[in-house]
Amino acid sequence: MSERQFVIHVNGKRHKVATEEDRSLLDVLREDLQLTGTKYGCGEGECGACTVLADGEAIRSCITTLGEVEDREIETIESLAADGELHPVQQAFIEKQAMQCGYCVPGQILTAVALLKTNIQPTREEIIAAMTGNLCRCCNYPNILAAVEHAAGGAE
Ligand code: FES
Ligand code: FES
Repeated sequence: MSERQFVIHVNGKRHKVATEEDRSLLDVLREDLQLTGTKYGCGEGECGACTVLADGEAIRSCITTLGEVEDREIETIESLAADGELHPVQQAFIEKQAMQCGYCVPGQILTAVALLKTNIQPTREEIIAAMTGNLCRCCNYPNILAAVEHAAGGAE
């Protein structure tokens, strides 16, 4: 596969990256930009560990090429906290103990952030439907659900 130069926008910054055309966004985020909060799980679009936002939409960076996101604004977990304050979804994950090993958590949080951007008061069923593709090998699903409900101002 040939190499070319891409321009991508990540966390409000513009980056020029010269790389193979089929290289995944996940690889570039972790290896070239050192944004290691985005995790490698399955590498096949099945687990959600690599979730990032593209124009606010949750996408799987392991199956996304740079060419697919050149004109989109990418946000990773590193972008969420601002001015020393955690994002409300991050805070809710702490308060509801929604992490055990923590490996799935960046993807879980970004999926929840994407949901709450479009649906500020989702029902429990809507949260489950939105989060169902984000797997947690620690099976901490009840606490993850509680955290998203808490962030949405719902059930305690
Ligand atoms: S690593 Fe991307 S979906 Fe599993
Ligand atoms: S907290 Fe360990 S994989 Fe989810």
